Amino acid sequence: MPTQNQVSLAPADGKLGVLIPGIGAVSTTFIAGVEAIKRGLGQPIGSLTQLATIRLGKRTDNRTPKIKDFVPLAALEDLVFGGWDIYPDTAYEAASNARVLEEPLLTKVKEPLQAIRPMPAVFDQEYVKRINGPNVKTQGSKMDKAQALIADIENFRKTNNCARLMMIWCGSTEVFHRPTDVHQTLEKFEKGLADNEPNIAPSQIYAYAALKSGVPFANGAPNLTHDIPALLDLARDRQIPICGKDFKTGQTFMKTLLAPGFKARMLGVNGWFSTNILGNRDGEVLEDPGSFKSKEETKLSVLEQIFQPHLYPNLYKDLYHAVRINYYPPRGDAKEGWDNIDIFGWLGYPMQIKVDFLCRDSILAAPLVLDLVLFLDLAQRAGMKGIQEWLSFYFKAPMTAQGLYPEHDIFIQLMKLKNTLRWMRGEDLITHLGLEYYD
Ligand SMILES: NC(=O)c1ccc[n+]([C@@H]2O[C@H](COP(=O)([O-])OP(=O)(O)OC[C@H]3O[C@@H](n4cnc5c(N)ncnc54)[C@H](O)[C@@H]3O)[C@@H](O)[C@H]2O)c1
Repeated sequence: MPTQNQVSLAPADGKLGVLIPGIGAVSTTFIAGVEAIKRGLGQPIGSLTQLATIRLGKRTDNRTPKIKDFVPLAALEDLVFGGWDIYPDTAYEAASNARVLEEPLLTKVKEPLQAIRPMPAVFDQEYVKRINGPNVKTQGSKMDKAQALIADIENFRKTNNCARLMMIWCGSTEVFHRPTDVHQTLEKFEKGLADNEPNIAPSQIYAYAALKSGVPFANGAPNLTHDIPALLDLARDRQIPICGKDFKTGQTFMKTLLAPGFKARMLGVNGWFSTNILGNRDGEVLEDPGSFKSKEETKLSVLEQIFQPHLYPNLYKDLYHAVRINYYPPRGDAKEGWDNIDIFGWLGYPMQIKVDFLCRDSILAAPLVLDLVLFLDLAQRAGMKGIQEWLSFYFKAPMTAQGLYPEHDIFIQLMKLKNTLRWMRGEDLITHLGLEYYD
């Protein structure tokens, strides 16, 4: 890791290819949104890279540039999109089917969306039970499929004249699985690919292909994917930045806003019941207990880590936390997430809070995809490698170095993100101590 004064940021010149396994609701809302914004048909609401400012120096200095003017990020005009899916629908057809964006807007960006035809996917129904499609690579071993993905990546790079690439998994949530022996070293992993080892999931084959091609990889789903020693080592050895897992959008976003507030005021919590109804394809996949288990793990871990019951047993040790997701087709992508929170205050007196978030899943996720694409590309140009903890802000289950617990408090995550940008540019880090104003 370079020190502050040594960070040299390569310019963001040329095209940045964005490769996406999973041309579904989230990815098409992201791509259609970028195309709409480029044409002045909408605003990039929800995106830090496009809208947020960053304070530099003292509060009295009045230096608050936009983040995109402070660090060299790829321009929206320089993004080119491609991807894989088990269904052959173009991004236009997939966006229409997802019914997130309305037809009049989609019609205006039909041309670029229609040009995006998913490449045949690497798929295994053992990992995503509820869907099946014809646009898949069928030949050879898992290693042959990884090589086919590497060839797809190179072909995309050449055809689109990309100066750089990045890959972001927006595919369905795979079933929960734990790391096994085959995930421990690159050698074992490569042998496993050649031997068609069942414990290697499709998302891991994409991550392997990306890293072997020198391409940064982000994971928007809760799958294990690259959070295994074999692929973490590969990323570090090849000097490639990576991040994940599971976009922090609806209910978990709310949790990481509220829970740090309760803890900040030393209010106790003994119950948090979260339920969701959603009717998109993601909801259908999550009906499968294996895929739900992956999601449940990332959703449940958040409160435990924010509340730190081992440090505050009288406030949080008896917390009952449950998360339910139900597939309910009439809602489509417009999810409803209810939270019932049982808290207690002074002398143990109980109170309740109810949150009913009528959200739009992909509308919340799309700006996160954009920011991750641009920031991961920035990290690559800054020479940063391995897990990018400063991007925890975007994830329900942020990846961390071994032995570190993840930081879930969204405000600490934001401070870390902005301080990392300041560090990249050799600016003073902001500690909020502020004693100098009173000297
Ligand atoms: N929308 C949100 O707020 C949000 C938040 C956190 C995480 N996520 C995760 O993001 C992912 C995408 O969500 P979505 O709503 O777009 O789902 P979606 O079902 O609309 O799209 C996923 C697409 O991935 C494809 N796919 C599945 N396996 C594949 C493979 N091996 N290779 C290529 N394509 C494959 C499916 O065919 C589908 O088109 C899901 O895993 C979801 O859990 C979404």
